[in-house]
Amino acid sequence: MLTERKSLESRELTLINEIAKVLSKGASVDNAVDEALKIMYSFWDVRYSFIALYNKDLKVLNITHAFGLSKEEIERGIFRKGEGITGKVFKTGIPVVIWDIETNKAFANKTRIKEKLKENESFIAVPIRVGGEIIGVLAIFKSFDGKESVERSLEVLIIIGTILGMFLRLNQKMTEERREWEEEKRILTRELTGKYNIDNIVGSSPAIRNLIDIIEKVARTDSTVLLLGESGTGKSLFAKTIHALSERKDKPFITINCAAIPEHLLESELFGYEKGAFTGAYASRKGKFELANGGTVFLDEIGDMPLSLQPKILRVIQDKEIERIGGDKTIKVDVRIIAATNRDLKKLVEEGKFREDLYYRLNVIPIYIPSLRERREDIPLLVEYFLDLYNKKHGKKVKITPEALKVMMDYEWSGNVRELENLIERLVVMKDDVIRDIDLPPYILTTRINKEKAVSNMPQYIERTEREKIIEALERTGYVKSRAAKLLGYTLRQLDYRIKKYGIEIKKF
Ligand SMILES: Nc1ncnc2c1ncn2[C@@H]1O[C@H](COP(=O)(O)OP(=O)(O)OP(=O)(O)O)[C@@H](O)[C@H]1O
Ligand SMILES: [Mg+2]
Repeated sequence: MLTERKSLESRELTLINEIAKVLSKGASVDNAVDEALKIMYSFWDVRYSFIALYNKDLKVLNITHAFGLSKEEIERGIFRKGEGITGKVFKTGIPVVIWDIETNKAFANKTRIKEKLKENESFIAVPIRVGGEIIGVLAIFKSFDGKESVERSLEVLIIIGTILGMFLRLNQKMTEERREWEEEKRILTRELTGKYNIDNIVGSSPAIRNLIDIIEKVARTDSTVLLLGESGTGKSLFAKTIHALSERKDKPFITINCAAIPEHLLESELFGYEKGAFTGAYASRKGKFELANGGTVFLDEIGDMPLSLQPKILRVIQDKEIERIGGDKTIKVDVRIIAATNRDLKKLVEEGKFREDLYYRLNVIPIYIPSLRERREDIPLLVEYFLDLYNKKHGKKVKITPEALKVMMDYEWSGNVRELENLIERLVVMKDDVIRDIDLPPYILTTRINKEKAVSNMPQYIERTEREKIIEALERTGYVKSRAAKLLGYTLRQLDYRIKKYGIEIKKF
């Protein structure tokens, strides 16, 4: 009798020891708890067990971990506070043992496990406490053949419940701390890489303010966005900003310029390939959509997407699925799509160069970025912003006169913000102190001349324009002088004379 008792005791110690071991192993919480239940089966003949934790939002206990229970039985395991034995143990904190499951009315049999039980299997439920608070219930079905005392088993289960409570509490604390730490890291990285946020979008015109409003809203969603606007209006900038303001900001932002990559390379760039998919595919490679997983893919110049690839793009948008070239399995990707174009997609659809279904899929949230001409009031702010930027970059303190600014405000800016930015950088590099109107390139001054006829007779303006026009004609005709002369309406001699006069360099090819 004594030896039997001893071996029992040592079995219980082994059980507790094994449970403590899996819980301290550092696996995920769910895995560790599942393992603990499994150990109760291997070391203690517990054929069925479960843990029901209280869900504060739903105000019910539900089974979060189980051993021996089917999916349906687990799903049925929902208990209100005070409902059934599980609900009562949770409410009162008092452990319960039911010997006579078969006949006892208190056993609610919500999981409908009763049918599976053997005759001598009893039910024991103990509270799981975290600090002073009860967070759930640990319950087991165990057979007693006379050797083991039920009281003793209850004590052991209370100990296991306590260990589990401590474990869950520790993990809860760690999760909270990790969340705080991640939040901190996020704030820090945002400060470090804070290149793209609303502050990078300069402008106070109603158009820009409205745009900022829209992208702030859109950033919070996962919807496909189509950015429309002329070249240099800021489509790429807005795309990056939408990503930077979204939940995906710490995940990749990958740009694909559909116009810049040759058609046959574009497909493998986008979707990747499997080893041996074509000559030269020595190893398999992930495409941009896979690499961007969790983040945003920016399809720049979508209007130039080859027709042959359009169905595959549609599939990414609709089903979030891709297939590598030469591969036969479908890969799920979680990407947000932002597309941009300066072309008229509707017209491309009419011309049969763009799929209508893709057009409608992309056009869920079209955002039109107005040209600089449509919001001239932003020019002074932009000039100031770029002056500051490039002064810093080149270690200078160049300023601009109000007259020069006025000329800029009157100019057409067909290259939009990019043209303005490039000009300012060039001027900052070239000038030492002040940018005057006279320092501006002739093509900019010409617009002005058209506006103010009086100035147009000043020789310096005429000469600058003329020189510029000649260079342009020469470039366009590949420096074939006879053709350039024809284009300009000069005789060859007249052109030669001017080339000499303005000291224009003739490039030879
Ligand atoms: N509102 C703005 N505030 C500050 N900078 C801007 C603004 N809009 C555009 N820019 C700057 O102008 C330049 C051109 O913008 P961006 O490349 O985004 O234009 P885009 O519409 O994508 O042009 P493209 O279609 O030709 O590629 C970039 O350097 C961008 O940072
Ligand atoms: Mg761009």
